[in-house]
Order: sequence, then C-alpha cells, then structure tokens
Amino acid sequence: MLTSPRSRARFYARWTNYQKVAAEAMLGRIHDGDDAVPTMERELAAFLGVKHAVAMPQARVGIYLTLKALTAKKKKVVLSPYTIHDVINMVICAGATPVFADIDRKTCNIDTAEVARLIDNDTGAVFVTHLHGLACDIEGVREVCRAKGVPLVEDTCQSLGASVNGQRLGTFGHSGIFSFGMAKNVNCLYGGAVTTNDDAFAAMLRDEIKDFPYQTAELLLKRAAFCLTGDIMTADVVFPLSTFWIFRFGYLNQVEALNKRWRGEDAPQIKEQIPDTYLRRMTPMQARLLLPQFAQIDRLSQIRVGYARIYDALSRIPDIITPPLREDGSHIYLNYPIQVPDRHALLRYAMQRGRDLTVQHMGNNADYACYARWHRDCPNARATGTSVLLMPCYPGYGDSEVQKNVEVIERYFATAANTMKAAA
Ligand SMILES: Cc1ncc(COP(=O)(O)O)c(C=O)c1O
Repeated sequence: MLTSPRSRARFYARWTNYQKVAAEAMLGRIHDGDDAVPTMERELAAFLGVKHAVAMPQARVGIYLTLKALTAKKKKVVLSPYTIHDVINMVICAGATPVFADIDRKTCNIDTAEVARLIDNDTGAVFVTHLHGLACDIEGVREVCRAKGVPLVEDTCQSLGASVNGQRLGTFGHSGIFSFGMAKNVNCLYGGAVTTNDDAFAAMLRDEIKDFPYQTAELLLKRAAFCLTGDIMTADVVFPLSTFWIFRFGYLNQVEALNKRWRGEDAPQIKEQIPDTYLRRMTPMQARLLLPQFAQIDRLSQIRVGYARIYDALSRIPDIITPPLREDGSHIYLNYPIQVPDRHALLRYAMQRGRDLTVQHMGNNADYACYARWHRDCPNARATGTSVLLMPCYPGYGDSEVQKNVEVIERYFATAANTMKAAA
C-alpha cells in the first residue's frame, strides 16, 4: 500500500532557534557577549569529562589545526577512507600525508588490525572516525597507539554523546573533534570544537584562532534561512502532502535538478590550501544556541537506540549488513546504515511504496581520482561506499515509521527470494 511518510531527515534545531537568530540579527547582537563562547566551552568539557574544549568555526578547522600541530615532524596520518572528503582535504591542507586504512564493514569504521599494520616511523597521528553515531573499536585502537607511541585523534562529529565503558567518545586519545553543523545532533548552523586534556595543546589552539574574525552574520543568516526552508519542507504537515511527492517523482524519474538537492557529497575536489573563509571564530550567538542543547543529548540518543532496536529485525535478512545492536551507550545511531547489494533497486522499491529513505553519498576516498596520489586498496571501504542506505533515526521520526521501513525492506527481499526460486 502507498503511504505518505515522514521525511528521511530533520534538523535538530528547535523553532525557537530561528527566533533567537532573527532577534539577535535585528538587534545587532550576534557578536555581543564575551562570556558566551567560554561558557559553552566549559559546559561541553564538563559534559564530556575532559579538561578543555576549544570552540571552532567548523569541525574541519579543528581537524586542520590539530593535524598541522601533530604532523610537524612525522607526516603520515592513518585514517579511514570512508568519511566525508572534507576530512581528507584538511589532512592535505595541514601538510600531512593520508594513509588509508580499510574499515570493518559492520561498523563502517576503521579496522584496528589495519591501523596496527600501517603505523610506521613516519606516522604523526592516527585519526579515527566514529561514523553514523557508531563507536569504532576505540579501546583497541588506543592500545595500538599507546604501544607505538602515536597520538590518537577522534573524529566524533557524528557521535557526540556516545560513550564506551562510561567514557565519552572524543576523550580517549590526544584530542577529539566535534561538529555543530546543521545536520548534527547539536546544531548552531556552523561550528565545532576540539577537546583535549593537554593544557599546552589547548593553549596553542586558542592562540591560533584568537585573531580570526568572527563568523559573518551574513553567512549565519543564509544558513539559518536554508535550515528554516528545510524545516518547513520536511514538517509533518507539508512533507507527506507535497515535498515527498516531488522528491519521489525526482528520484523515480531521474530528475537531477531535484535529486541533487538532497545530496550531501558530489564529485569531491581536492583542496591543498585552507580557504581564508574557513578561518573564522564561533560567534557568541552560536554559543548561546548550543548551550541549552547539551542537556538533551542523552535523552535524544536513547530515542535513536530505541529505533535501532526495531531496525535490528533487518539483521535476520542474509543479504543485508546491519550495524551491531548495542544498547550500552557506545552506539547512538545518528543514522542507521544498512548495506545492500543493489541499493538503488531497493530505494526505488521503497519510494514507490511511499517510504522516504536515502543513499549515503559518502564514498571510498581511497579510490577517488583527486586523491590518486594516496590511493590504497581498501576493498571493504569500496564495497561499503556503494552499498549504504541510511535509515531515518531522528527523534521525532516515530516507532511506527521505523516499523514501516522494516516491513517494506522485508517485503522487498522476500519478493526477490521468491523471484529467484521461481526462476530456478
Ligand atoms: C565525520 C565527519 N567529520 C567531519 C565533518 C566536518 O564537520 P564541519 O562541517 O563542522 O566542518 C563532518 C560533517 O559533516 C563529518 O560528518
């Protein structure tokens, strides 16, 4: 039966955020309030249980500054190729050499044995990513890094709030990187932070950014307008009546002008110089947007874990790779990634039956032409890069919507199995 679904994605920002942005912009207060950013930094550090959090204009700037410092002498950075290409660009802009380590297909995260194998005397850092809200084998990687004396950096952009054995991700190594970009579970339009227990490193980061100008009001207002438009288009009253049908038409009829609206990552382009426009400071207004959100993180994570419990029914289907079901706080399922042999066939089937799902457009950076200089054969990342579909997991999505996704996917595979049987 054709049903009208909830949207595949929603921003975490509340409607009141738009009021705050508009009010501060009208009153010219976006840059006012010297204490807002330091207060936000202290609250974040306390939430994570780490000594320092240093606000960044975007997480990628934190990656750039951190790796620039760590690879001053030893140039190699061992990292997963399955991440957004901006991360690889920041490694390159920092003057470092990416060394791609293959991933574990279940978690989509870096494989510890590969990390151990690839570290050599020129390794300046190991950079792990906790993708989709799923912790990588952080204790295993930390052991390897300790044994080899290599600093460990965690990209926690998609996993703010997750913890392993009671310790929050982003606090296991030398430093942790966080994003407060618009698609994250804590969102101030643009923004990020670097966390560390190293006093000298925190002081060095503060010194690096102290003379950057504030993020411009113009850019923040543009981003707020973009998010507001997205929020309206994906709102429960609008999406099932109009937006879904437009995107369904676009997807089923290959209308590129419509499809590209939803795509995060297109053909990646290499960056070898950090753009000047990245070198900004977080504004006090953004810090004020963040502050009330920290108290909500764990409650919202629990809702997503509940969805993962329902999606886990898909693990019974042999053709699907599902993420591990963990309810110990280590996996907070920012999205629920499933890997299937022909993701576009399944997506078409689901869309035709009124389910709004999406492909993960992130690919295997180790294979991209623009990074050919650093190519390594990473078969798991290659297979994962073409097979992930993202199941919606945002807090307002609802158990019944999750259940409908599960049922459609189960039907798809049952039909495929029956067709094969009939053909045999
Ligand atoms: C895994 C990961 N790393 C880094 C980033 C970069 O974050 P930002 O856009 O704040 O620079 C993102 C953003 O999407 C991300 O998902």
